Amino acid sequence: MVDSPETVRVRATGYEDSQDSDRDGFGPSTVEDDIILEVKDLRTYFQTSYGTVKAVDGVSYYVRRGETLGVVGESGSGKSVTALSIMRLIPSPPGYIVGGEVILDGENVLDLSDNEMAKIRGSKVGMILQDPMTALNPVFNIENQVGEAIRIHQGVRGQTLVDRIIHALRQVRIPAAETRMKDFPHQLSGGMRQRVVGAISISCAPIVLIADEPTTALDVTIQAGYLRLLKEIQAETGVGIIFITHDFGIVAKMCDRVAVMYAGRIVETGDVRQIFNTPTHPYSEALLASVPKLEERTRRLYSIEGQPPPLFDLPPGCPFAPRCAYVQDICRELYPTRVNIGDDHTASCWKTMDFDRSKADPDELAAAQSVRISEREQPEEKREEAGAVAD
Ligand SMILES: Nc1ncnc2c1ncn2[C@@H]1O[C@H](COP(=O)(O)OP(=O)(O)OP(=O)(O)O)[C@@H](O)[C@H]1O
Ligand code: SF4
Ligand SMILES: [Mg+2]
Repeated sequence: MVDSPETVRVRATGYEDSQDSDRDGFGPSTVEDDIILEVKDLRTYFQTSYGTVKAVDGVSYYVRRGETLGVVGESGSGKSVTALSIMRLIPSPPGYIVGGEVILDGENVLDLSDNEMAKIRGSKVGMILQDPMTALNPVFNIENQVGEAIRIHQGVRGQTLVDRIIHALRQVRIPAAETRMKDFPHQLSGGMRQRVVGAISISCAPIVLIADEPTTALDVTIQAGYLRLLKEIQAETGVGIIFITHDFGIVAKMCDRVAVMYAGRIVETGDVRQIFNTPTHPYSEALLASVPKLEERTRRLYSIEGQPPPLFDLPPGCPFAPRCAYVQDICRELYPTRVNIGDDHTASCWKTMDFDRSKADPDELAAAQSVRISEREQPEEKREEAGAVAD
């Protein structure tokens, strides 16, 4: 049950640790030290000829060992750019990480050199992309491609390397791994190719795995098997998963917690059951309402009216205001502060504060108006470089 606005506590920073119980045998831990990845106030902008695209503008989330965080939101909300920023794979120019921290296993990866980051990518954090063909090289066989990551990160050769490749392929349930590893990507089905990408991602036992819409290119029956496989791998290895998707149905099956993104920001986070049962942010509510339900016979499927705003020209205030049924004057003036509305459940919406700005923490309120703040934060040389690109 969501607290009444009177009991809402406005907090200046951070999240509270959930006291939630284990689910499926590998649910979230209650130990704060088990946070293995924490993204804090991340900002990634693109300088384009039509202006600064604020693709990620103050995103904060975290993942614990052995849990799955779902990241949902409409197309263009910044889900992939956040993931690519964690991996330090933003093309620059035109993209720049202009602020924030990404703490992976205790160290801020944004402070690392390119060489140090290359060592971490694939070893401590792995990524599975939507389309396996973009991740696999068509001219090398599977043995080469799975072996490359293991060889680079773990320095093994010869029979040990072959054994490790076979082990990784078996982990993703590829039958007859010894012979299939001689195949080239085009000789495998789409589902098998995605399993090979999974094998590469987990071959060096990462502590965090980012899966960016990994099943979108697969047909429905293969999808279900792949999702089950990810859960099994998680149960075996304790890897923390960030699962990016458009699909709230998949979130319900796969995830422990969820972060809802809109226009480059997180608008609500919480335990999956909290968000499903009592969505607080009107955008989460609308996303959930647009999930088709088998038991309900409706003539028309619900869809959210209107479009997300262009990220190079965000309106002041709440970017969901033009589409929101609850909008009031203050929503158009000021971005809402993040409010803690229960264990590990936060939302950024004036409705949670009765549209009363005196209920917002002044520091948090100033931080939330990040549009102007972040422009000041951008380093001088990056602004000059970006300006030259934009010209
Ligand atoms: N190289 C780029 N140059 C300019 N803008 C970019 C670039 N890459 C991403 N963007 C912009 O950043 C915003 C966020 O993109 P992102 O790919 O993160 O969306 P997403 O939430 O992953 O969407 P989808 O669900 O369609 O994958 C979009 O507006 C996109 O146009
Ligand atoms: S802040 Fe206002 S406009 Fe934005 S989601 Fe909440 S009620 Fe709607
Ligand atoms: Mg994406």
